[in-house]
Parts: sequence; structure tokens; C-alpha cells
Amino acid sequence: MIKVLFVCLGNICRSPMAEAIFQDMVNKAGLAEQIQVDSAGIGSWHVGEAAHAGTLDILKKNKINYNGRARQIERVDLDDFTYVLAMDKEVLQYILRSGTGAKANIALFLIYAKQAGLVNIDQVPDPYYDGTFDRAYSLIQRGCSALLHHIRHTDKV
Ligand code: 4NP
Repeated sequence: MIKVLFVCLGNICRSPMAEAIFQDMVNKAGLAEQIQVDSAGIGSWHVGEAAHAGTLDILKKNKINYNGRARQIERVDLDDFTYVLAMDKEVLQYILRSGTGAKANIALFLIYAKQAGLVNIDQVPDPYYDGTFDRAYSLIQRGCSALLHHIRHTDKV
């Protein structure tokens, strides 16, 4: 089983969007038994809350269902998950600081899309502050596509 954890600051905008989009891709590829998907935030402000309305709206527009609730990342996640993917460098630094000796492959989420030439930035700008949920969706969609391609080739699922 390959386990993928998407991580952002609050777990209400970017990482739940990535979880929902990637789960949809995994389901459509018939890989739901082989790849498990989850998301978390580094902060505790929104624990237990549903995703932001902006994230839910853009997912709905694209016919993707999501009913997860925000949770905070824990140290055990860094050994439990195969991939722990950060939406930006602040989140990555936080994870790396607390992740000494972690088993997971910890990286920036967009690294695979950037290597594949699908995007030319390596962080997903936070739509929480400026409402750019369309831009986040487009970037995350490309990030997920490149990630699935990477996992298929690297982990032989
Ligand atoms: P996210 O966006 O990290 O993409 O979920 C944010 C959500 C909440 C806050 C910051 C960013 N906040 O400061 O509460």
C-alpha cells in the first residue's frame, strides 16, 4: 500500500483540494486498493472543520465530492505515510524540522509537476488570503497528475 499525505497550513484550502482531486484520479485509475490518500495541516486553528467554501465550490464545479474534516499533522504520520507532500516551503520547513529520521519521502508537492514541465513554480499560492481557488485548482490538478505518473513508475502500483 502506498500512502500519500498532502499538507498545508490550515488543512481547509489547498491540502483538502489535493486530497479530493488525487483520490478522484486514483479511483478513476482503479488504484483505490493500492493508494491511500489523506491530508493534514501544520496548524491547529481549523481542526474538525469542513473544507473552506472556496475549495468545496471549485471541487463541486468539477464534480468531485469531499467531506473530510481538518486535522493537524502528527509526528507518527512521517513514518506512517510513503509520501508527505507540502504545498509551500514554509510547510516543508516545518515538517522537516520535526521529521528527523522520518521514513516518509518528504517533498514539495509541485516538484513532480515541475520536473515534468507541467508547471513553472514549486509552491501552491494560498487562496485563503486572495480567493484564487481557480488558480489553486489548476496547479493542484497538474501536480496530482504528475504525482500519479511518478508513483506508477517508481512504486510499480
Ligand atoms: P490552507 O490555507 O493552508 O491552504 O488550508 C489557510 C487556511 C487557514 C489559514 C491560513 C491558510 N489561517 O491562518 O487560518
